[in-house]
Amino acid sequence: VAPLKVGIAGLGTVGSAVVRLIEQQSRALSARCGRGVRVVAVAARSKTKKRDVDLTDIAWAKDALALANDPGIDCFVELMGGSGDPAHSAIEAALKSGKSVVTANKALIAKHGLRLAALAEQHHGALNYEAAVGAAIPVIKTLREGLAGTTINRVYGILNGTCNYILTRMEKEGLSFAECLKDAQRLGYAEADPSFDVDGHDTAQKLSILASLAFGTRVAQSAVYVEGISSIAPEDLRAAEELGYRVKLLGVAVRTSKGIEQRVHPTMVPKTSSIAQVMGVTNAVTIDGDGIPPITLVGPGAGGAATASAVVADIADVASGIRALPFGRPTAKLRATEKAPMERH
Ligand code: NDP
Ligand code: HSE
Repeated sequence: VAPLKVGIAGLGTVGSAVVRLIEQQSRALSARCGRGVRVVAVAARSKTKKRDVDLTDIAWAKDALALANDPGIDCFVELMGGSGDPAHSAIEAALKSGKSVVTANKALIAKHGLRLAALAEQHHGALNYEAAVGAAIPVIKTLREGLAGTTINRVYGILNGTCNYILTRMEKEGLSFAECLKDAQRLGYAEADPSFDVDGHDTAQKLSILASLAFGTRVAQSAVYVEGISSIAPEDLRAAEELGYRVKLLGVAVRTSKGIEQRVHPTMVPKTSSIAQVMGVTNAVTIDGDGIPPITLVGPGAGGAATASAVVADIADVASGIRALPFGRPTAKLRATEKAPMERH
């Protein structure tokens, strides 16, 4: 069988890690998928930038759109970020030309996911986005496939690695918010515009994707109440600790009699609770379903290697011919969520 020919747009923290992982896992991927997986072409803003990845024998496309339209690739991997162009038009072009698409771009999936999913179905391609939520944690597959037969009543958790890293270091080391954010950026955890992380929008995008899969709602970031962590100081964390609490930025989506409610805000959690033990860049997602005890998935929520793990798993699904519906058909009602009281979880 011919190898799957992959084109990757974006060679930053995640893109470079994906090229490295495909190279390292080459034999294992061939064995698992029944065919090889080969990166044949890439695109980024700068061709001359020094990168910690071997690009010998890999072609450079003129730009992301040219790569998406390249008939020499089977699978277009979008790792540039941003909900607008070039990511959006390149993904659209790739799907229209019958290619499968893999992306880690939650901003784009939260905004255009349902329409792109319809396009993927129409052109018989896959649209895989496991890395968009919880990086290495397979939460998309868990909700979409693993729990397809379960009625879900609540999904909540820590969905942003940068914020949890900042809160952890502020609490443990008494460092300022600004110092911790700088380190999160240096380590490749933060978004290109870190206000998406610290103001809660990244968590809201991820939550709206999870809610859509869990409850069958349309993906609607605008229906999420959002409050971030940028006004939290080390003294606030100390005060919470004296009361026996830790502060976490939580995303919560819950079924109510009036529709699905979604909110993101700093939350006081008892220091003894399991969610309070989730520290650093780690993410955790708890799913409450009818008839089963809660399921919690915990793992690295950001960073090149962690995210590449999920991106390469999505590419392996394409190579193996596994194609799930990217989203179900929207059926449930959303409720616009008002400011919630400071919740003790
Ligand atoms: P980076 O900023 O590190 O990398 C972005 C890459 O995209 C760079 O190689 C850049 O090129 C390229 N790029 C940007 N604009 C263009 C353009 N107009 N045309 C062509 N190439 C372009 O981002 P990350 O790797 O951190 O993130 C990539 C995606 O993965 C985002 O959607 C992000 O939300 C998502 N993600 C990131 C995680 C993380 O931990 N970092 C975790 C989960 C998801 P150049 O290098 O030449 O500047
Ligand atoms: N900036 C994101 C985070 C990357 O810190 O969680 C992972 O989606």
